[in-house]
Amino acid sequence: VQSSGGNVTGKFGHPYGYGFLHEDINNSGDGGIYAELIQNRAFQYSKRFPVSTAHYFPVNGAKFSIQNGTAPLSKALPASLRVTATNKTGKAGFKNEGYWGIDVRQQKYTGSFWVKGAYNGSFTAALESNLTSDIFGSVEVKSKAVANKWTEHTFELVPERDAPNSNNTFSITFDPKGTKSGALDFNLISLFPPTYKNRKNGLRVDIAQALADMNPHFLRFPGGNMLEGLTNDTRWDWKDTLGPLNTRPGFQGTWGYQQTHGLGIMEYLEWAEDMNLQIVLGVWAGLALDGGVTAKEDLQPFIDDALDEIEFVSGPANSTWGARRAALGHPEPFELNYVEVGNEDWLAGFPGGWNSYREYRFPMFFDAITAAYPHIQVIASGASSDPAPGGPTTGPNKVNGLEFPKGAIGDYHPYREPDDLVEEFNRFDNDIGHIIGEVAATHVNGGIRWNGTLYKYPWWIGAVGEAVSLIGYERNSDRIPGTFYAPVLKNVNRFQWPITLLQYGADPKLTTKAVTWYCWSLFAHHPISSTLPTTSNSSYGPLYWGAGKDDKRSGALVWKGAVFNTTNGVDVPVSVHFQGVTPGTKANFTLLTNAVGDPYMYNDPFTGINIVNTTTTLLSAGSSGAFEFSMPQLSVAVLDTDPA
Ligand code: AHR
Repeated sequence: VQSSGGNVTGKFGHPYGYGFLHEDINNSGDGGIYAELIQNRAFQYSKRFPVSTAHYFPVNGAKFSIQNGTAPLSKALPASLRVTATNKTGKAGFKNEGYWGIDVRQQKYTGSFWVKGAYNGSFTAALESNLTSDIFGSVEVKSKAVANKWTEHTFELVPERDAPNSNNTFSITFDPKGTKSGALDFNLISLFPPTYKNRKNGLRVDIAQALADMNPHFLRFPGGNMLEGLTNDTRWDWKDTLGPLNTRPGFQGTWGYQQTHGLGIMEYLEWAEDMNLQIVLGVWAGLALDGGVTAKEDLQPFIDDALDEIEFVSGPANSTWGARRAALGHPEPFELNYVEVGNEDWLAGFPGGWNSYREYRFPMFFDAITAAYPHIQVIASGASSDPAPGGPTTGPNKVNGLEFPKGAIGDYHPYREPDDLVEEFNRFDNDIGHIIGEVAATHVNGGIRWNGTLYKYPWWIGAVGEAVSLIGYERNSDRIPGTFYAPVLKNVNRFQWPITLLQYGADPKLTTKAVTWYCWSLFAHHPISSTLPTTSNSSYGPLYWGAGKDDKRSGALVWKGAVFNTTNGVDVPVSVHFQGVTPGTKANFTLLTNAVGDPYMYNDPFTGINIVNTTTTLLSAGSSGAFEFSMPQLSVAVLDTDPA
């Protein structure tokens, strides 16, 4: 039985990679990895999500009203909050509840807010309990506020003690006696805890760290559906996400909530830089989720826009858009080797979206990008197995539809039942290149597929089925540059898609790695730079395996395996002999099993119990040069001769 052999370092000299697709779903950006603590910080709105004072509460009976359009903070932020004191004594103001709470600890918070209206006095910014009268920390901010003009106020706040839980609010109050009419206008109220790698406007430390701990290699962004937008005129426009926060209008998200644009293209790029990730940049390709397609004669401006975006990311600092990036603080170009044109063009607007993609949209983008950036690997947003327009979409007569221009690779998105993922093992043995741009076990075996309910969290059988598919993709890594989990993050307080790698809430104690994170992490920590052909005296199933070698780790030899057996409890004896390995050679054998037995169990953020049992054993090759071990049913393992 053989694994496809070949060099996987590809034209970019990096090993096969595991990574993530990130888009704002499940409050994974705002209220997730983007560290901003204030929800509805700038009263942003869109056609679908009207302006409101949601998440704010009056202090001392103050009255709220939204001011919209008259002398706004900026064109991008037309609406603001007017706070009018109604009580003659005491301070007036507002509290914000954050994203379902605020984590308060003895650390430095950095805040800012804008005010319009004359005020002689000082503001009090405070972090306090929502349950008791406890104030954990506060700071006086001297007013610079004047009539008819917006003035920014900045402050730092270090609470005197940690809060016992995350049921806390952030408040700003002022003394109405220092104002003319008792009213002041506020906007862009922002509060950040320390961020990952101390970036301004950066990432939440615990979430980013949990992702980094997986040893990822790739970041694909900005979606997913988010890239497409609900309609052609509401796409995620990267140019709206640049620069100071008061120039970012926000975005009518595609997942049921208004987004701030705080996590913009620059923040995505810095995220990739801080975790040393290869980027797959998704560019808008003239198709929105409602099926709206851009006509051929109207497409050129969007191709130009994609070229601007590529220049912004990777152009020299003296190019038009490279200069803009430099002005934003990053003169060095980011490395960009992969650009994907659109997202799932075979899904939205089928068959119109798909036909137009095949006929002119993909070829026009492909030609323009390839001409300007010959080194970039252009990726089509469909797979060789996606259906042709008009043809049956499922079943044995399904017609494969995507014709790839020479040099393009595809993108394949299997969200499946575990049994189906096991069948993925040989999916790419005879196919052209693809990224596996989104993959996850989402539905339990025998359940209804796409329209059925996604399981609650990644669960153990799902994770093992997924691991089999990952081995199948990796053993074809001479054509598959990498595999991306999606979606990655879930705020337990509001989500659209329960199956994610990490779960979290405001309280960092809830931050939980799913069972599948452990499998991805194990594989990602044992990279290979070339696959090795394998032979065996048994065929695949219930044990699935692949082998490779990592030149970067002095030629370390790696074997990855998973046992997907749900019908009996018999362990599988395994004997692995790497050619040339002599008796006594050492290798680490790491085995992942389910500590609780029940294959439908998952890591529940509300119990905090990790059901994945990880054991690492140092093995010695026996007299025949083989490493001997056994693997229980539903287990995942790696054998690696690198002692590290
Ligand atoms: O990952 C969730 C969604 O699944 C993505 O936005 C989309 O690309 C896919 O259909």
